[in-house]
Amino acid sequence: MPDRPFQYLLHPLPLTGGGTVSRIMPGPMEGIMHPLFCKAVSELGLIDFWITPFLRISTDVPRDSRLRHFILPFTETGLPVIVQLMGNNPELIAAAAARFRKLGVAGINLNFACPSKQVISSGAGGSLLRKPELMRQIIEQVASACPGFSLSVKLRTGYDDSAEMERILERAVSGVKLDFIAMHFRTVKEMYRKTDQGFERIVRAVKLAGDIPLIANGDIFSAEDATAMFRATGCAGIMIARGLLKNPFLSRHIRQTCGDADIRTTTGDGRTIFFNKLLDIARRDPGKYWSRPQFMELANYMWGSSHPCFEVFKQLSDKEFLSYSVVEQ
Ligand SMILES: Cc1cc2nc3c(=O)[nH]c(=O)nc-3n(C[C@H](O)[C@H](O)[C@H](O)COP(=O)(O)O)c2cc1C
Repeated sequence: MPDRPFQYLLHPLPLTGGGTVSRIMPGPMEGIMHPLFCKAVSELGLIDFWITPFLRISTDVPRDSRLRHFILPFTETGLPVIVQLMGNNPELIAAAAARFRKLGVAGINLNFACPSKQVISSGAGGSLLRKPELMRQIIEQVASACPGFSLSVKLRTGYDDSAEMERILERAVSGVKLDFIAMHFRTVKEMYRKTDQGFERIVRAVKLAGDIPLIANGDIFSAEDATAMFRATGCAGIMIARGLLKNPFLSRHIRQTCGDADIRTTTGDGRTIFFNKLLDIARRDPGKYWSRPQFMELANYMWGSSHPCFEVFKQLSDKEFLSYSVVEQ
């Protein structure tokens, strides 16, 4: 494993077809990355590009108007957008990818990781880890429908067991041209359970990925977690999902820790700043952005439902909530 300095994480990752993205990647989050979230993140400059949550392609390719609607919250931030597609029909996914390419996105990411029961029972997401030959067909069809375009995948280390990783990577991606593999170190069966094998699994994944940049994902909640993952595994980048909710300035903190002297960050509580930004946006245009369930769900991810501020939010009327300001705890 090359002993690279942390500054390596600041080197942009080139995308096939042009452009670059950060090696400190935002993890896609379905149900969280709605227009309000995207606007707040971009107004505060918290990330550099998007990987959208999955768009499920099952029986047909949606019309262009629906595809445009799907990417709008992301494209209107002005940041590059990689669209994540999920499904098990190679022709349909390839057709959807080609249509998104025409709409001007920066690349396509294929979801072979989602562990949700509903997704698994439909034979998509993480269930495809049991069918690496079909994964390969999907990857190859998308690549041939979108030549010279950025293509990447998101995986877990196995379905039942991480020992499957060797077989999966050998059969699904060896010899394939991908811009990166984002690897969540858990298996599908593990869902979000704790494992102490994260680093060891990512080390194996980095080796198996060969020339394809391996982006490590899982349980990165601080800049120290990020640099520990990088140091222990030799990964080519990191991806943070829940960490961005617990600490919205995390990507900025990581950049700073890696030596980026120009980065905007904060010494205050990032959650407070972010939540107040969400409220500010909702106040400016409540018709478009105010949704109590969305605020409660974000608060739940950010502070947890046992935190005193969550209790306060529960007691507020909609009107009180909209004029509320969180005070740093
Ligand atoms: C609410 C939520 C929604 C998610 N939606 C997606 C998704 O649409 N596509 C995907 O590839 N991963 C999705 N994930 C998984 C994350 O991107 C990430 O792989 C996982 O949470 C592990 O990283 P973390 O420990 O940094 O959170 C989701 C995770 C959460 C918590």
